[in-house]
Amino acid sequence: MLKDGSFGSAPEEWGAPLEVLSLKLEEARVLVDAILALRRIDSTASIHMRDDHINLTEVARTAAKRAQPRARLLHGSVVVDPDRIGSAVAQGDQDRTLRILDNLINNALVYSGDARRVVLRVEDVGGLQVAVEDSGAGIPEERRVHLFEPFSRDDESTEVGSGLGLFISRTLAREMGGDLTLDDRPGARGSRFVLHLRPAGTPG
Ligand SMILES: Nc1ncnc2c1ncn2[C@@H]1O[C@H](COP(=O)(O)OP(=O)(O)O)[C@@H](O)[C@H]1O
Ligand SMILES: [Mg+2]
Repeated sequence: MLKDGSFGSAPEEWGAPLEVLSLKLEEARVLVDAILALRRIDSTASIHMRDDHINLTEVARTAAKRAQPRARLLHGSVVVDPDRIGSAVAQGDQDRTLRILDNLINNALVYSGDARRVVLRVEDVGGLQVAVEDSGAGIPEERRVHLFEPFSRDDESTEVGSGLGLFISRTLAREMGGDLTLDDRPGARGSRFVLHLRPAGTPG
């Protein structure tokens, strides 16, 4: 309200501090959202978790579609690899699967430098999985060990974030009997996160 002049026009020298204040508020909001999401996982984990058949190709398409406005805003792209297999049916909670993919896509868009090209692949390689690949700078070896721990962030990052996204996503994946991993791709550009899920009909 100070910024938009609800209390009359703010003195010019307030400009910079108000900008910082807005940014800090945004950071706090992101953190509170993430912590609330964590609490919800703790308290409602298995009670509200569904265990349905999930058409992975469909879910990947939905996630890519939902990401379009953000991708446009960031001058990036999010696509599902057309060579995906047709009928990968996994077992788990569709909303959670979508939430995990949203997190991964968003990270890929935000942290992949100027390239911002995100590709989703549905794969059946002895296990069902959805990979989210970007063509950014990748994640240095020394950061990989702690990447999935809560509050793990790049100290120098200028992006607003909580460092909880990957931790929450991995927790959700494991609760569904799946997992979330980061692939080692020596020589390749960018990062490749892989969400592993149980095939339909298998016990959790
Ligand atoms: N696709 C990616 N490419 C490069 N770095 C990434 C990618 N995804 C995540 N990271 C790094 O991992 C950190 C943790 O990610 P996350 O748990 O989602 O938290 P947040 O996005 O709130 O920082 C990010 O701050 C970023 O440094
Ligand atoms: Mg994130």
